[in-house]
Amino acid sequence: MTPLAQITLRCGPAVRTPRRSLALAGWLVCSLAVLGAPAAWAEGYPTRPISLVVPFAAGGPTDVVARTLSVPLAKALGQPVVVENKTGAGGTVAATIVSRAAPDGYTLLIHHNGMATAPALYRKLAYNPLTDFEYISQVVDVPMTLVARKDLPAKNLPELLVYLKAQGDKINLAHAGLGAVSHLCGMVFRQAVGVDLTTVPYQGTGPAMAALLGGQVDLLCDQTTQTVPQIKAGAVRFYGVTTAQRIKALPDAPTLAEQGLKGFEVMVWHGIYAPKGTPREATERFNAALRVALKDPTVMARMADLGAEIVPDAKLTPEGLRSWLKQETERWGPVIKSAGVYAD
Ligand code: MLT
Repeated sequence: MTPLAQITLRCGPAVRTPRRSLALAGWLVCSLAVLGAPAAWAEGYPTRPISLVVPFAAGGPTDVVARTLSVPLAKALGQPVVVENKTGAGGTVAATIVSRAAPDGYTLLIHHNGMATAPALYRKLAYNPLTDFEYISQVVDVPMTLVARKDLPAKNLPELLVYLKAQGDKINLAHAGLGAVSHLCGMVFRQAVGVDLTTVPYQGTGPAMAALLGGQVDLLCDQTTQTVPQIKAGAVRFYGVTTAQRIKALPDAPTLAEQGLKGFEVMVWHGIYAPKGTPREATERFNAALRVALKDPTVMARMADLGAEIVPDAKLTPEGLRSWLKQETERWGPVIKSAGVYAD
């Protein structure tokens, strides 16, 4: 796509005329053509594959949501939706790439709470989540779970607390990088139990889970979209969910709060973003396709099985995402700043 600035520059010389009125008319026509350019361009959107950038490694929970949606999205849009994993720096590498991509609707970002926490965590952030993007929609809310390698001696939360007190920083907590929700959840847990765990970063909780299954790390706080199958298969130890109420996907599982970690509540929310300046026609078209995809019975069943809650219609809007992001940024910014925690 030709960037709007280039079209504007090309307009000037094309309307040179000695007659003032004609010149004015020429500029007017040209301006109208320029103003109309994105709309006319976006009319057939999409005409080629769309890249949906995931900020974490393949196989992890964000990736699972993106890939579950990519097939029905492609069906609704008539073009492939290609999931691309661009990892690093707790998701900020991917967000930087998308913020700088051509604003043509062909490069989009799916990201979680990290969009709201990054401005406080990263002092040298290359983008502003509140001004450098167009907002497409919220997607799903996902609870987290606290799990451990299968052979960790502690069989339940009370035993885990005793074990952690005895072992202290000999215990490894895996996470997906500074600013990842697995990291934030791990920090909340560390604070709640008052034990100084050793943290081990990965490019996503996909590889972190592989390390947990392989016994290379001890603990992981991760989204149900990845942990439910492992919990059901008995492949990990499981201590509880991070929501205030029990969840349908794991009805017998206690919450961490009901087991004594009062106020322990972490919920992950996901949204889809486009680079600033992406034509409204493109973001609206993608939003409409997303609504169709989220009503697909296969998607609904899979999300329910994995504990992911499709957000209500009012949040499936650009404004729903934008205002939620603002609210979350205002909520987490002061908390992170006053804790003096920085990722860079
Ligand atoms: C996170 O911890 O932020 C995510 O679970 C990372 C991922 O999707 O791999």
